[in-house]
Amino acid sequence: MKYHLSRITCIKRTCLPKFDLVSPSFQKPAALVTGASRGIGQAIALRLAKEGYAVAVNYVRSRERAEEMVAEIESGGGTAVAIQADVGNASDRRRLMDEMLAKFGKIDVLVNNAGITSPGRRDILDATEEGWDTVFDTNLKGPFFLAQAAAREMLRLVGEKTTRRGTIINISSISALAVSVNRADYCIAKSALQMMTWLYAERLAPHNIHVFEVCPGIIASDMTEPVKQKYDELIAGGLTPIRRWGQPEDVATAVAALVRGEVPFSTGERIHVDGGFHIRRL
Ligand SMILES: NC(=O)c1ccc[n+]([C@@H]2O[C@H](COP(=O)([O-])OP(=O)(O)OC[C@H]3O[C@@H](n4cnc5c(N)ncnc54)[C@H](OP(=O)(O)O)[C@@H]3O)[C@@H](O)[C@H]2O)c1
Repeated sequence: MKYHLSRITCIKRTCLPKFDLVSPSFQKPAALVTGASRGIGQAIALRLAKEGYAVAVNYVRSRERAEEMVAEIESGGGTAVAIQADVGNASDRRRLMDEMLAKFGKIDVLVNNAGITSPGRRDILDATEEGWDTVFDTNLKGPFFLAQAAAREMLRLVGEKTTRRGTIINISSISALAVSVNRADYCIAKSALQMMTWLYAERLAPHNIHVFEVCPGIIASDMTEPVKQKYDELIAGGLTPIRRWGQPEDVATAVAALVRGEVPFSTGERIHVDGGFHIRRL
């Protein structure tokens, strides 16, 4: 297959990513954002679409919301597709990647965002194996094998000079570094994302594929809605140096900077988007 210089740069020269060779069959760089029907994933998908990416909006249950997202992106002149898939399920993951590639022909960016909190938020002494398996399948096994599938495809694209660089971003959590004894499975799965990020970063760096962990703090979304009052009080009391809730757009802004290649000599890095929560204070 032959490739030619892209004309996409004339659409929005200032914010398009730095790809100069793309497939003639589909000229936009393509991003897959898991769990993009709501919350943080939604903000990331909208931002990447604005930056010129064709975006696959993955969801597991919220078909209507995902389709609304696609309509919103398309009405702004962007390109998107909604793809239902449970990231914790192997055959769903294969179908997700197949549908993405069938639609866009490539994958330049994977954002492993889909995640669930610990079912029932049980004390560690009451934690169940069922809860553990569900959380680990969704929050760790899914991201690991999606990164593997995306990396294989990116290696092909980089090898064919269809694209110059790839980016994989894993959305972890401050729960990777702060204990919540009523969400042990969640904390352990999120902390493992750091090692996963390092492993893929090391393996893929020679091929110009950069891998990052983005570590959100307390972000306003459906996930935190049930504990809103608790966090309102903690934030007002100074839990975070920057005394406000994080917004999904705060995370999307960090992701967009990484995807644009604005930290080109870094990989495997953990980016905190947490209002300074991670700073130990006396
Ligand atoms: N909110 C926070 O304060 C916070 C802090 C740190 C880290 N994070 C992390 O950030 C990510 C997004 O969180 P959020 O607050 O935006 O969550 P959210 O509002 O609950 O949204 C979760 C998203 O993930 C999707 N999803 C859930 N299980 C899935 C599965 N098995 N397969 C595919 N998609 C699935 C949901 O799809 P449906 O709509 O179809 O259900 C939805 O789009 C998660 O990884 C979370 O752990 C969040």
